[in-house]
Amino acid sequence: MTQSVFPHRHLLGIQGLTPQHITMLLDLADGYVEQNRAADKKKALLRGRTVINLFYESSTRTRTSFELAGKRLGADVINMQVSASSVNKGETLIDTAMTLTAMHPDVLVVRHSDSGAVQLLSQKVDCAVINAGDGSHEHPTQALLDALTIRRRKGRLSGLLVAICGDVLHSRVARSNIHLLNIMGAQVRVVAPRTLVPATMSRLGVEVFHDMREGLKGCDIIMMLRVQNERMRGNFIPSIREYFHFFGLDYEKLGQAKADALIMHPGPMNRGVEIDSDLADDYERSVIREQVEMGVAVRMACLEVLARNYTGGTA
Ligand code: CP
Repeated sequence: MTQSVFPHRHLLGIQGLTPQHITMLLDLADGYVEQNRAADKKKALLRGRTVINLFYESSTRTRTSFELAGKRLGADVINMQVSASSVNKGETLIDTAMTLTAMHPDVLVVRHSDSGAVQLLSQKVDCAVINAGDGSHEHPTQALLDALTIRRRKGRLSGLLVAICGDVLHSRVARSNIHLLNIMGAQVRVVAPRTLVPATMSRLGVEVFHDMREGLKGCDIIMMLRVQNERMRGNFIPSIREYFHFFGLDYEKLGQAKADALIMHPGPMNRGVEIDSDLADDYERSVIREQVEMGVAVRMACLEVLARNYTGGTA
């Protein structure tokens, strides 16, 4: 039976959640999908509550969807312009967070380039904190929206064979998805060049492939990852051309997966690097736009459970 409470004060990662907590968030989010497709998209559920988006890294999908999610639930949403804030005068992450919490927000949504920064911040403030991506550590709402997309298309997560392909080394999306898919009973493969797989990967209970055609054989889901040039210090790939030849998803390599395999990508995409541009836009196979749509519903569910704090638990 689905648990009706979420016993965490914060959402810092997928690791540590139970199948029941994940199912509860997905069920709640599923209920918001139709509301988001209706003409009247607003509810007053979080009227009087305040959500602050604090993004130290660039974002299109996550920041916008958290803003929409908060507004559709009736909350007041503030987007902190980090580039135009006192961060530029040297104010630290913690001082910034303490300053913001003095204004009594109910939820802080935080993205930061350092792994662990969001958890540290959560220990200093007296409101709920949602991790919107920290370094290469976790991006829990991305994994939840990916799971909702898969569940709505395939009817389940358990028993599916999922290949996560590309720059796994720098990817918080990969980590959160691996945790979630393991927890929910899916089988996970990682497909990447040796230089882009962290040594710790085999400890996470995944199979590692360095040949993409082998790794895609029989898969139900193919999750492509962005090559994160901004996090690379040194030469991880010989050239874009060679990377696409061996690890870019095209129609020929896709032929190794199941005939009804779904193609996913968290965005933003490097077209012609990790994915063929025509394939990315082939809506018979690609659910990339659907992932973005599910992002709003999932973030509404997360804001609802944390802002209402109807559990009073601890993270
Ligand atoms: N997938 C994702 O996190 O996208 P943004 O960086 O645009 O938020």
